[in-house]
Amino acid sequence: MPKVIWITGASSGFGMAVAMKLLKETEHIICVSARRAHLLDVLVRQGAHAYPVDVTRSDQLAEACHSIQDDFGTIDAVLVNAGFGLYGTIEEVPEDAVRRQFEVNVFGAVETMRNVLLPMRKQGAGRIVVTSSSAAHVSSAGMGYYAATKHSIRAIGTALRQEVQDLGIEVVMVEPGIVKTSFGQVALDENYMAVEGSDYHGQMEQVKAFMLSAFTRAPGVERTRDMMVRALLDQRVKPVYRTTPGSLALNFASKVFPPALYDAVVKQAIRRIR
Ligand SMILES: NC(=O)c1ccc[n+]([C@@H]2O[C@H](COP(=O)([O-])OP(=O)(O)OC[C@H]3O[C@@H](n4cnc5c(N)ncnc54)[C@H](OP(=O)(O)O)[C@@H]3O)[C@@H](O)[C@H]2O)c1
Repeated sequence: MPKVIWITGASSGFGMAVAMKLLKETEHIICVSARRAHLLDVLVRQGAHAYPVDVTRSDQLAEACHSIQDDFGTIDAVLVNAGFGLYGTIEEVPEDAVRRQFEVNVFGAVETMRNVLLPMRKQGAGRIVVTSSSAAHVSSAGMGYYAATKHSIRAIGTALRQEVQDLGIEVVMVEPGIVKTSFGQVALDENYMAVEGSDYHGQMEQVKAFMLSAFTRAPGVERTRDMMVRALLDQRVKPVYRTTPGSLALNFASKVFPPALYDAVVKQAIRRIR
């Protein structure tokens, strides 16, 4: 029986890769969302159904969710994936940019989940897969706000997992480390790291060089894509999938190192890149 699967953030990166694999290798009904509708056309040509949304617009999310149910009768699984990175210091990132980061990565994700919960509760089944990050466990200079959004989504996803377990709904978190998608370019193109005359200037230059190097050396989407597909489709799923060696190592370091040692190791790693 084909499942109805909704993927947000499908115009690029993980979302597009997962949608493409599902379209090529399965008979499931694939519904895709993003703001840039024209970038969804490549998926539509492969058989996907496009529902363009800006996840910060709760009216658009609700309409997309209703339309999918009208068109296909149900939503069996959702990949809550739309998001972006924001780099800059806690002091210098403007407030509106901070709010925007939370609007997309936290409130957009939460609204996506809340919209699918009603149909999933009615049918007594469903799966919510959330693209979290290794940044859900760690934080570092220049990336505090992005890490805060992923810490939030981990906390919300963990609570939701417990709340809906007995209602037949599974909640799965996928935690990639750094992976080559458009994410790095989006985060580094529009960043708040180079504030002229800033006391943080030298440090942010190092962080930027570190990120550029990390994204250049990062693995491609394949492994994370395959784990996301498993998280969506496998009969039995784990609550959390860590998809890259970097995400496993960061998670380990955050649990085992005392905070002062963690700070020293992260700062040293960033300095050594130059
Ligand atoms: N790549 C990494 O290193 C990495 C690591 C850990 C976690 N992640 C997470 O993975 C997820 C996907 O990112 P990616 O790496 O695949 O990056 P990407 O290639 O830049 O894709 C981001 C997707 O999010 C969508 N999006 C952004 N803002 C949106 C909004 N307001 N409304 C609707 N859609 C929006 C974009 O579509 P439009 O611009 O067309 O709207 C795009 O499809 C994000 O949640 C990110 O935090 C990425």
